[in-house]
This record gives sequence, C-alpha cells and structure tokens, in this order.
Amino acid sequence: MDRKRRISIIGSTGSIGTQALEVIERLRDKFEIVALAGGNNVELLKLQAEKFKPEYICYNNKAISPPGDKSISSYKILHGEEGLEQICSDRSTDLILVACSGKAGLKPTLKAIENGIDIALANKETLVMAGDIVMKKAREYGSKIIPVDSEHCAIHQCIKDIRQVDKLIITASGGPFLHKSIEEMRKATVKEALSHPRWNMGRKITVDSATLMNKGLEIIEAHHLFGMDYDDIEVVIHPQSIVHSAIEYKDGSVIAQLGLPSMHIPIQYAITYPERFEGIKSKSFSFAEIARLDFEKPDFEKFPALNLAYFAGRTGGTATTCLNAANEEAVFAFLDGKITLCQIVEITEKMLSGHKVIQNPSIDEIFAIDGEVREKTQNYIKNTL
Ligand SMILES: NC(=O)c1ccc[n+]([C@@H]2O[C@H](COP(=O)([O-])OP(=O)(O)OC[C@H]3O[C@@H](n4cnc5c(N)ncnc54)[C@H](OP(=O)(O)O)[C@@H]3O)[C@@H](O)[C@H]2O)c1
Repeated sequence: MDRKRRISIIGSTGSIGTQALEVIERLRDKFEIVALAGGNNVELLKLQAEKFKPEYICYNNKAISPPGDKSISSYKILHGEEGLEQICSDRSTDLILVACSGKAGLKPTLKAIENGIDIALANKETLVMAGDIVMKKAREYGSKIIPVDSEHCAIHQCIKDIRQVDKLIITASGGPFLHKSIEEMRKATVKEALSHPRWNMGRKITVDSATLMNKGLEIIEAHHLFGMDYDDIEVVIHPQSIVHSAIEYKDGSVIAQLGLPSMHIPIQYAITYPERFEGIKSKSFSFAEIARLDFEKPDFEKFPALNLAYFAGRTGGTATTCLNAANEEAVFAFLDGKITLCQIVEITEKMLSGHKVIQNPSIDEIFAIDGEVREKTQNYIKNTL
C-alpha cells in the first residue's frame, strides 16, 4: 500500500470486529481508522476508540452515553441507522468492513456502495437478503466486494478466471452435532449448540453452524459473489477446518486454499487485498503436524437446512429474503429458550412454503418482505408453539 488505507468497521465490538482490530494493531502503519460502529456494547466501543483514535464512533442507543469524559473525546459520536449512513457516505473512506450480524448489514453496505467505497463483507445475510441488488449496484458504482467469510475468501484466493471454473467446493466443519444422532440434536440445549468444536464466533452464526443453516447461507452467498449456478456449488464436510474451500477447473484441476483455522487470516486478506503482509500469522503451517484431513458427504436428512437453502436459492427473488428473516427470528427464539434447535429449520421451512415469492424485487420490497416474515415468524412461535 503506498499510503495508509482509510477503513471503517461496522460491528467493531463483535467477534469479527475485534479480530479485525487485532490485525490492524499489528499493521498500524497500514491503516487509518475513520469510524468504529457497534450495537450496544458502548464500553468496549469507547475502549476501542481510545486505542485506535477513529474520527467517529457510532452505537445503537442514543439514550446511553459513553462512559468517560466526553469533553476529552477526539471523536464525533453518532447513533443508529442515521449514524451508519453518515459513516458509509464519507467518501474519504477506502474500505468498510461490514461485520455486524444479521440484517443490520444490508443498508450500510448499499450506502457505502452508492458512494463508491469498497466493502470487506463478513455479513453474509446482506447477500442472502438482497444479493442480486447488492452485486448489481457494486458493478454499477465500481465498488469491490471482498469476502471475509473463510470459505469465500478461500475461493476468492483460488480463482483466476471464473469462466474456467466448473465447480465451487465449500467445506463445512459440521458443527457440534456432526456425529450426534437426530434424537440428540432434538434435545440440544443452547449451551451445546453454542459449543462449536472449531470456531469461536458470535451467537447467531454459531447456532447457524449447529443446524448447518450457516452453510446454506454460504451457498447463497457464493452464488452471488462468484456468479455460479447452484448446481455447481457443492458442500463437503471437513471436520478439521484446514481446507477452507476449493474450486474445480474445467480440466479437472482442483485448487484449494488451506490454513490453520483462524479468522485473522481471511480478515487480514480482505482488508489488505490485493497485498499480503506477515501481520498476525502466529504459526507456520505443517502438513506433517496436521497428518490427516477427512472429508465426507453432508447428511441432508439430519441437516435439512442445506436443502432448504438450495431450494430458496434456486427459487430466487424474495425466497432467500424470507429464508434469512425466518431463520434469524427462529434463532433468536431458540436462544431465548422458546423453541428447540430442530424447530429453527422446521419453522423456517414453514415460513418459506407459505411465502409468495416476488421475482426481481426492489429494495423497498425486500425490506417489506423482511419485516412481514419476521412478524409472521414471531407470531407463529408465540401462538402455535
Ligand atoms: N465470527 C466469525 O468467525 C464469522 C465468520 C464468518 C462470517 N461471519 C459473519 O460476520 C457477521 C458478524 O459475526 P460475529 O460472529 O462477529 O457476530 P457478533 O460477535 O455477534 O458481533 C456482531 C457485531 O454487530 C454489532 N451490531 C449488532 N447490531 C448492530 C446494529 N444494528 N448496528 C451496528 N452494529 C450492530 C454488535 O454490536 P454490540 O456487540 O456492541 O451490540 C457486534 O459488534 C455475521 O454476519 C456472521 O455471519 C462471522
């Protein structure tokens, strides 16, 4: 980089956001932080602001004032959606890392794209909700979308020319219930569902990983990022999480990206792309130490979320918006102890089967459908279960 890259982070207080700041701390001379935005963890946001000296901070609730002496703050304080809009309209920004969870990522991503700002995209829900619109807008405004998700980051690193690629192979660790029976899965507690064997992540994505809906969302994300047909996107279970994904070229050559399971690597790749630096790399990779890599086909019966995601993706239009909204609400209900783990996908399927799909929706239609499905899902959980 010939000058410092001006970066903002939406979701700086979360799992991806804090790891991104760890990467930036190691590469202090490469970055200048424009804005840090979080949801409700104002204390952490304030500590981050003291350390990284952004120009703005933004958090959800106007009623909470950040701890400490406001008069000595060197940054401007913004709030909620309006604040995020302001951050995403600052054209002096080179890159915005969208690392908030759930539907909160879509509006800021669209705003940043409209301002020609490049995006490092961790928030997969953005593309599941409105992938066609987001990717079209990005092409129109010349904004790069660089994937942060380790699987898509892997594919991004493997692809030279997408026209020569026959198939994307997305790996999945299989989550905490890979080798448990359906009965055990039915009785799973929130604690068990949150005990991911490989990755330490936010609560929503961890539950999605337990049902494999996370992989389903990633199939849809891959379709939009790389323009691949759903028939040419395959999922393979790989419990060690060393091979982060692969592509098969037309001539049968398979290129995979490997690395120790750490999100620092894909985050760093996305925010420093196209350059690479030593940064936070802690340990050299050793095939001999890893010794073996296992692969197996996913069990579509035990993990119906995969088929549901393929179905929604192939249906297109607002089907994936509906899938995302119903799943997210059902995950919250599971975390609140209102439903069981397996009911998450059952409810999502129910909402999807009752959904009247709009093809080629406008962004307003997408937000309207998102709201309707959320309300319907909440009512269904409240009144039926
Ligand atoms: N964690 C991973 O390893 C991983 C890997 C691949 C992809 N992803 C994707 O990255 C995204 C973030 O995941 P995560 O695990 O980092 O989640 P997380 O730990 O739950 O963090 C979510 C972040 O979003 C913030 N946030 C929530 N609502 C917000 C809003 N309305 N406006 C602004 N910020 C808001 C939270 O703020 P507060 O905490 O302050 O409330 C927090 O900073 C998800 O879409 C996930 O699928 C994560």
